[in-house]
Amino acid sequence: MILILDFGSQYTQLIARRLRELNTYCEIHPWNKPPEITSNIKGVILSGSPFSTRDEKAPKPDLSAIKGKLPLLGVCFGAQYLANNYGGEVLPSKIREYGRANLSFVDTSCTLMQNVGQHSQVWMSHGDTIASLPDNYTVVCSTEDVANAGYRIEGEKTYGIQFHPEVYHTTDGKHLLKNFVVDVCGCAQDWTPDAFVETTVADLKQKLGDDKVILGLSGGVDSSVAAVLLHKAIGDHLHCIFVDNGLLRKDEFEQVLESYKGMGLNVKGVDAKNKFYEALKGESDPEKKRKIIGRVFVEVFDDESKKVENAKWLGQGTIYPDVIESVSATGGPSATIKSHHNVGGLPDYMKLQVVEPLKLLFKDEVRRVGKSLGIDPAILGRHPFPGPGLGIRILGDITAEKVRILQEADSIFINGLKKAGLYDEVWQAGVMLLPVQSVGVMGDERTYENAVALRAVTSTDGMTADWCHLPYEFLAKVSNDIINKVKGINRVTYDISSKPPATIEWE
Ligand code: XMP
Repeated sequence: MILILDFGSQYTQLIARRLRELNTYCEIHPWNKPPEITSNIKGVILSGSPFSTRDEKAPKPDLSAIKGKLPLLGVCFGAQYLANNYGGEVLPSKIREYGRANLSFVDTSCTLMQNVGQHSQVWMSHGDTIASLPDNYTVVCSTEDVANAGYRIEGEKTYGIQFHPEVYHTTDGKHLLKNFVVDVCGCAQDWTPDAFVETTVADLKQKLGDDKVILGLSGGVDSSVAAVLLHKAIGDHLHCIFVDNGLLRKDEFEQVLESYKGMGLNVKGVDAKNKFYEALKGESDPEKKRKIIGRVFVEVFDDESKKVENAKWLGQGTIYPDVIESVSATGGPSATIKSHHNVGGLPDYMKLQVVEPLKLLFKDEVRRVGKSLGIDPAILGRHPFPGPGLGIRILGDITAEKVRILQEADSIFINGLKKAGLYDEVWQAGVMLLPVQSVGVMGDERTYENAVALRAVTSTDGMTADWCHLPYEFLAKVSNDIINKVKGINRVTYDISSKPPATIEWE
């Protein structure tokens, strides 16, 4: 395992992703809460940071159990820290050291720099530079402007590089990271989805024994993969609950339930549509609607869970980006922890322990594990869908009739994307039912019906997004189909806003 000590850089997660792509297991820990250094840790990477090493408040990690004892790679801030605190000097940079640069010197006899091109491009992102290195440090690469771009320490397996190898724009970054984890640290590159399934199932078997586990399925990728893994470990001691909140896509409840049963899962489908509609009646405030949907979900889930006698565990599909403790901007102990509960948080009195078999995986790894488990690609490739479902795509109050109208329009759009081969190019798509009525004409009749907005975006994580430039012919066909087939809609618009400043959902 490679330990990544996080000093708060925006790129820390990317380092972990790159190592995982090299089939190497790694974990990110905040610099001020490092784990115990055991023989399991084959090497350590120090990340970048928003801090300057010269700053009074800059992180000052205690590396006494690491430096000189284990392979160590400092990246950006990490490299500057290893220089500044061991006899070198870091100063504010006089020239711009942001963005692309090209190496002008590479010592390929250094293990870290093997196969790194003599003039290859690197990505710089720092305001400081290493003005001088301690005596026993040797330069292993430079750019025109940055003489000490990379170094090694004589007699140690310690290296530092001022650029970011984890960023795509560092063209040989992957070679460099591979050199470190394979040739310097001796990692076996045996972290694969199959190996993950094997070890996780064995761990779950041991941890859970004959205990019963309850898991809320949502139809999404994460909860489905978590369920199949748990099922492989404990069979029918896993009790899955899939709640129809009346805000799912057209026919989704039936179809998803069918495919879960096809996978051998022990699933109880609960039709709670009317409970949700009743609780939502007359409410048009987006946040209140979210809260009501969350609360009713917990009530329904709780009622169903009680029917499973002696359940001890709650299974969740939490994934790595949701649990990584990232160092807050102040670097202090007030580290922010994002935590995410797929089931919306359960009442304390349920007293269930939580089991989260995917909590160390990134989204793409969850999909790879799902594939290795033989899960239907249609489930693995599904677009994200918000927990409150169509409830936040019906602007204003929710009624069963509005849900029906939106489900019809949404189904035409989504199936249209699939038929046109565009579904996988889109990160997320859906239709918004607007609280706007407009005049239209159908045949000889004047109509006065609702407008909808189609929304399709490209994104990698939902944090930022661009509207999809879907072909006009495709949009024309979808618009035509919706207006002709869905009674209650006479106008279709296409949302061409990016996030930020807009959001993906309209509520
Ligand atoms: P926004 O609208 O904030 O959405 O750009 C970003 C991503 O989050 C999803 N989303 C939600 N997911 N509960 C969820 O589980 C919610 O209340 C919620 N609101 C937005 C949205 O679908 C998109 O993928």
